[in-house]
Amino acid sequence: MSVVAIVGGTGKEGLGLALRLGKAGHSIRIGSRDGARARARAGEVRARVGGTIDGGDNAWAIAGAEVVWLCVPYGAHHETLVGLAAGLAGKILVDITVPLAPPKVTRVSLPLGLSAALEAQELLGRETAVVATLHHVSSAHLSDLAHAPEGDALLCGDDERAKEVVLGQLVELGLRGLDAGPLQNAIALEAMTPLLIHLTKRYKSAGASLRVTGIP
Ligand SMILES: NC(=O)c1ccc[n+]([C@@H]2O[C@H](COP(=O)([O-])OP(=O)(O)OC[C@H]3O[C@@H](n4cnc5c(N)ncnc54)[C@H](OP(=O)(O)O)[C@@H]3O)[C@@H](O)[C@H]2O)c1
Repeated sequence: MSVVAIVGGTGKEGLGLALRLGKAGHSIRIGSRDGARARARAGEVRARVGGTIDGGDNAWAIAGAEVVWLCVPYGAHHETLVGLAAGLAGKILVDITVPLAPPKVTRVSLPLGLSAALEAQELLGRETAVVATLHHVSSAHLSDLAHAPEGDALLCGDDERAKEVVLGQLVELGLRGLDAGPLQNAIALEAMTPLLIHLTKRYKSAGASLRVTGIP
């Protein structure tokens, strides 16, 4: 079991990650811009699943963690990474960011670097292994511990060892993780989410997701 940090861990996706990875036995460090908010959230998660769940500011959260899940809105992506860049060297950064352009969240919006994860890798350099995943798993599914989340978690990255580590954590989240290739493919993964948000709204779903067929 490892030490896992969740930057922006007070949010919707962060809650599901903390609950499920904490329940699986990892030491969880919930991060926030406001340490008190993270400590309060850690207390709630600990009350539900037990284990070693702590909270603090984002810089505190990533210190000592091997794997860092980045769970902030795209509007905060660059600024958050700039602030944490030095502390992320030598770690695995799991970037779940979808570069949405509110209020038009049902339309594909490619950022300047074509993908949030590619922008993260460019900013952080080779010392941090960026893996992109979870773009198609809604927070409603992730935080509902009574059911396994629906759909597959497609994952991409350029560091094979980092991908293996994250594939292991996806299993612990109750997901089938599928290696979807190099980090360049994050462009496609991130771009698919606005379509899923559209489908969710159009068909009044609790959260449309993707399942790949033809893979045993
Ligand atoms: N929600 C989903 O179903 C879903 C599914 C797949 C992927 N995603 C992606 O996952 C990421 C997180 O989504 P979410 O729904 O969990 O987001 P969220 O709840 O709106 O925000 C997550 C956390 O980010 C921090 N944050 C918010 N605004 C910020 C800002 N301007 N600067 C710095 N930090 C800020 C906040 O933490 P503090 O205020 O405590 O610092 C907040 O609790 C997003 O990039 C989203 O595209 C979401």
